[in-house]
Amino acid sequence: MKNTHHDIPPPLAQALRQAQRVVVFTGAGVSAESGIATFRDALTGLWSRFDAQALATPEAFDEHPDVVWGWYEWRRAQVLRATPNAAHRAIAQLGRHVPELAVITQNVDDLHERAGSLLVTHLHGSLHAPRCSRCGAAQAFATEIPAEPDEGRRIAPPACTDCGAPVRPGVVWFGESLPAPAWRTATLAAQECDLLFSIGTSSMVYPAAELPRLALARGATVVQVNPAATPLDVLAHHNLRGAAADVMPRLLASAGFGDTDPGLALTPDGEV
Ligand code: OAD
Repeated sequence: MKNTHHDIPPPLAQALRQAQRVVVFTGAGVSAESGIATFRDALTGLWSRFDAQALATPEAFDEHPDVVWGWYEWRRAQVLRATPNAAHRAIAQLGRHVPELAVITQNVDDLHERAGSLLVTHLHGSLHAPRCSRCGAAQAFATEIPAEPDEGRRIAPPACTDCGAPVRPGVVWFGESLPAPAWRTATLAAQECDLLFSIGTSSMVYPAAELPRLALARGATVVQVNPAATPLDVLAHHNLRGAAADVMPRLLASAGFGDTDPGLALTPDGEV
């Protein structure tokens, strides 16, 4: 992976070296190589096996709480067994090289944090922060995670320790608003940055997909990292086709950020 960054456009490498404020905006694709299924990719996407759009709603939880809770427990177990990949690590490393880096993710996993990123904004909540569906009180997970949870297994949600109503996942469902502080942080960061990376997202779910457009409107350079085409292609200044875990380390190397960081010596498999 070293010294193979020739396909990174030199103007982009230079923009990265000179950037003062950088936003990294991520979606499910950044966690794909950690073995976490994306939402919309054919064959591997969760949505090819489950009607996730139907499950990720308050109505589904009201109607079938055990199906919805079981589905999120399956996803949580998958995330807990996963480890950050080279893309998460490269993004954390980027934060040690640029003056300001905001990581804004649509993902409900914690792989950016586990890779060492600071200041991660979660637009769609977290798999690891359950709360009461009625009174909103934060809850701890009472149950052990099944060692090898089956997809589609029904699990009754625990009862709220305060009011007894069912506990729900701490994620944003379709039809719900994004957490206001997270959205405010994200829009400000997008409007103030000089360089925004949109990595591993289909750019189809709003309002999150608005962020690269906000950055463009303020004159920022927008770079997309994705193996497939998305609606952002026609707007982005650079489209880097490929897997995030492959492209991101090469991008850092192209700016001279790759091999000199002393933190690298501490990376167990030293892949970046
Ligand atoms: P999607 O599943 O819609 O899109 C995943 C994107 O990642 C696609 O564009 C893929 O081409 C790309 N991809 C796949 N493998 C990749 C890799 N190795 N490296 C880089 N990119 C790769 O996921 P999101 O865009 O995150 O919201 O979906 C947005 C939101 O829709 C999610 O947060 C979720 C879902 O509904 C809620 O649950 C509220």
